[in-house]
Amino acid sequence: MMTGTGPIHYTGVAKTLHWLIALVIITMLIFGQGFETSEGDDLAFSLTGHSSLGLTVIGLIILRILWRIGHPPPALPETVAGVQLLAAKLSHLLLYALMIYVPVTGLYTAAAHEMPVMAYGAFDLRVTLSFFGADDFEGRRFLHELGTWLLISLLAVHVSAAFLHQFVQKDDVLRRMLPGKAKG
Ligand code: HEM
Ligand code: HEM
Repeated sequence: MMTGTGPIHYTGVAKTLHWLIALVIITMLIFGQGFETSEGDDLAFSLTGHSSLGLTVIGLIILRILWRIGHPPPALPETVAGVQLLAAKLSHLLLYALMIYVPVTGLYTAAAHEMPVMAYGAFDLRVTLSFFGADDFEGRRFLHELGTWLLISLLAVHVSAAFLHQFVQKDDVLRRMLPGKAKG
């Protein structure tokens, strides 16, 4: 049963952006792990891929936040109340915060890289971002990496919560974000 009379699923645009951004971010989290062992041409190639996907995801995240401001999410089922409702809201807010923090610290790290960071193979981000200065690469990378680990931890909670709702509480929360309309 749903509260209120509003729609019981996210808009098509919100769903498309959610899954597209999830796909790009998870890909970046996985391939980012290869940075530590990479060098030379391999590292240059990875930096091009990582920064190009990163700039693309920044655009998608901005679109998503703007869309979200104009389109509040559908009311959650009545089964999600009290502490659980607070936890859902807080974790979504934190996910949005990390979707800003991680790419911004990525740009900050790229500005101080010893190698060219050729976004889309077209321009060196270090030049574009020279206003960030170029000191303390390691410190900057630590800030970026810290964000990625916080994101991974929160994603583990987020995905577990989605499956718990769907298969244990059986309140169709996962279907709100899947193609088509959830059953009311
Ligand atoms: C949500 C988006 C992003 C995710 C999930 C992500 C993920 C990662 C991960 C997992 C690492 C490896 C950390 C380590 O072990 O040292 C990394 C490193 C890095 N990222 Fe990102 N990143 C994102 C956005 C960006 C953006 C937008 C840029 C800049 C254009 C960027 C630039 C870098 C750089 C320069 C490094 C260090 C590379 C090196 O060690 O040589 N990242 N990122
Ligand atoms: C990088 C990956 C992901 C990020 C950054 C992310 C982020 C978010 C955010 C911020 C929301 C809240 C939307 C809003 O109310 O505006 C949300 C909702 C949701 N996400 Fe994700 N998500 C990711 C991956 C996933 C995955 C893999 C699943 C499925 C297992 C999932 C399932 C859901 C569901 C079911 C909702 C709707 C919750 C509700 O009904 O309120 N997400 N996600």
